[in-house]
Amino acid sequence: MNNFRFHAYTDIRFGKDQINTLPKLLAPYGKKVLMVYGGGSIKKNGLFDKIMELLADFTVYELSGVEPNPKITSVREGVKLCKTHDIDVVLAVGGGSTIDASKVIAGGAAYDSDPWDLVTNPEKIGKVLPIVTVLTLAATGSEMNKNAVISNMETNEKLGTASHDFIPKASICDPTYLFTLPAKQTAAGTADIMSHVFEQYFQNEKRAFLTDRIAEGLLQTCINYCPIALDEPDNYEARANLMWASTLALNGLPCSGKGGAWTCHPIEHELSAYYDITHGVGLAIVTPRWFRYILNDETVGKFCEYGRNVWNITEPDAYKCANMAIDATEEFFTECGIPMTLTELGIDDSKFEIMAEKAVRFGGLANAYVPLTKEDVVSILKACL
Ligand code: NZQ
Ligand code: ZN
Repeated sequence: MNNFRFHAYTDIRFGKDQINTLPKLLAPYGKKVLMVYGGGSIKKNGLFDKIMELLADFTVYELSGVEPNPKITSVREGVKLCKTHDIDVVLAVGGGSTIDASKVIAGGAAYDSDPWDLVTNPEKIGKVLPIVTVLTLAATGSEMNKNAVISNMETNEKLGTASHDFIPKASICDPTYLFTLPAKQTAAGTADIMSHVFEQYFQNEKRAFLTDRIAEGLLQTCINYCPIALDEPDNYEARANLMWASTLALNGLPCSGKGGAWTCHPIEHELSAYYDITHGVGLAIVTPRWFRYILNDETVGKFCEYGRNVWNITEPDAYKCANMAIDATEEFFTECGIPMTLTELGIDDSKFEIMAEKAVRFGGLANAYVPLTKEDVVSILKACL
């Protein structure tokens, strides 16, 4: 097990009616709040009105319309608002896109030049305004982590950046907010949670026994509860388990004592950068193809461990067991209603070369669980058609 640091910085308020704690959570940072949200789901489900009522004693400025795969143009608007109104605290209300945009807005508030610099070069991130979030989609874990992923459609770049100061000070996670999620987002969000776990589970450090059991528990939670949430969107138990899984899957816990470059995320980020697709859908398509591509004598044992512990596969032959686990993963995504080919998303092979080159370069795939070259990534993408 490698050395690691795990320090939970975010005050998580989990459960029904936790929104009532919002004024207390914001108060230590000041009265001028920039509330950031997306395309209007929080207006339809009443959350917007509830927050406005609770924040009657605060001065609330708004940035609405943050897009899925948030664009740097929205971040620039938010930074402008922070500077014009001398904002004290950024309140993100939404999914990963809103939270990620809020993080870079909070960093851009004290930065003199274009906030895109903070995405391309995290070392330029200096002072960051405090961030508080109200989560409405279980997927990214952004509510308790230091990452932000921002897209620049002019340059076809979707890049991750990170800062310790991007970690939200507090996050309200009320599973009832997930009741209004469209089935597509429930399924894509679950695929994203599972992919975060896979990226950390399939790594070369073999002695992190406890960490791997935590990972398997998170995967079983997704496999058990996503179908229930799809059948019964207002099933509290299902939503609550998925919501907590999303937070834990990417807050540092399932990689404690492990480490290494990720694989499917850098590949998916290129798909989103060129085709603006839903992150979790891209991951669900790439994952089983990646699994099959890297299955070999060195990795078969890990796939078998995954099959036995997560899917309860008892097949004694290692390769058969591994293949059954990979098939089960693909079937699960299919049964959740996720389109499982790039062709279904209207994507052909015309940009595979450039996307593969960038995935290897930005994602450091030479240091992944199984190191991949540009040619390897092109082969994986072709298998996704
Ligand atoms: O914009 P609104 O109207 O709010 O609608 C959103 C959006 O259309 C809707 N939605 C959210 N909550 C809802 C709801 N609709 C009904 N009821 C609700 N309760 O869902 C749509 C998707 O929202 P989005 O925030 O884009 O989804 P998600 O949370 O999956 O975030 C995806 C983004 O996060 C990045 C992804 O790359 C992508 O850009 N990621 C961020 C990470 C991080 N910060 O650590 C890690 C991830 O791997 C990922 O890369
Ligand atoms: Zn992800």
